[in-house]
Amino acid sequence: MSDNDLSNIKIPEAIRPVRPRRSVLYVPANNERAMQKSLQLPSDVVIYDLEDAILPAHKENARETLRAFLKEKFPNGIKDSKKEILIRINALSSPWGSEDLIAVRAIMPSAILLPKVSEADDIIEVNDALVEMDTPHELRLWAMIETPRGILNVASIARYARTPGTRLDCFVAGTNDLIKETGVIPQQGRPYLSNWLSQIVLSARAYGLDVIDGVYNDFKDASGFERESLDGRAMGFDGKSLIHPNQIDFANEAFGIKADALNEAHEIIDAFADATNKDAGVIQVNGKMVERLHLEMAEKLVEKSKLISN
Ligand code: COA
Ligand code: MG
Repeated sequence: MSDNDLSNIKIPEAIRPVRPRRSVLYVPANNERAMQKSLQLPSDVVIYDLEDAILPAHKENARETLRAFLKEKFPNGIKDSKKEILIRINALSSPWGSEDLIAVRAIMPSAILLPKVSEADDIIEVNDALVEMDTPHELRLWAMIETPRGILNVASIARYARTPGTRLDCFVAGTNDLIKETGVIPQQGRPYLSNWLSQIVLSARAYGLDVIDGVYNDFKDASGFERESLDGRAMGFDGKSLIHPNQIDFANEAFGIKADALNEAHEIIDAFADATNKDAGVIQVNGKMVERLHLEMAEKLVEKSKLISN
């Protein structure tokens, strides 16, 4: 086979869970008060953080606090949780990464959030270590894109999501680290970050990943947060990373499924289900052209909407 024929090889799509990820709340893994609160809050996802929110001197203590907390809350395992529950571990290259990974293997959260992913090898290394520990496939991986090299390599990192057996489900933009590492000055409207954020969205979409926008640090500035959330929604993100409970409701609204979009999705599904359209690739619904790709999008939207209760 010539090299050109490689493009014809059909790489099997990984089976990724369809989940609402409108609001993704970080909680430092040593803040027991916030941890207790976190499970009652209406965010779709909670990320217990062992990385940047925890000082080196408290890393081990935070890991043990988190282990005990989740054991108490989910005696039969985290699969009982309605929310997705993630743990952000320290990089494997750090002094705490390996121990974090062993702890996470025992806890079995919904997914691990890997910080500072700069190339596909950073994920492969963790995936290999999980395989080595005989880790069930239900334990997924999310990757933070937050370094200059991570941005430069984001398409090849996303492409790893096509590898059979991959656990990679989602990207999270790490805007604070990106600002720090690049020297960009934070400004309203994120003029110099937007390009990079769009590359993250585009790469995620190219390989079927979900993608979450970065945090808004000034949690008392509701209008700035709302503006940035709507901006992230318009850029194509699935949801927003949050640091404070008062950011959840608006994120759920901004990234939620609107009633008219849901109605339209049902109309598209019904139209294609009509016997007369059985073999049609393209039809019209309410005067608009609709293709099979819209049917796929409509089905995904309806599936997601069934998982949203607030
Ligand atoms: N998750 C759950 N509960 C939280 C929370 C969070 N991320 N942040 C605050 N809360 C709780 C507080 O415990 C407090 O609860 P209480 O009323 O029962 O005492 C309530 O919300 C109000 O909090 P507030 O007093 O406004 O803020 P704070 O000073 O307690 O905390 C931060 C402010 C920024 C320190 C805190 O929001 C935080 O740690 N956020 C996450 C930071 C993080 O994980 N960063 C790493 C990723 S970028
Ligand atoms: Mg970071």
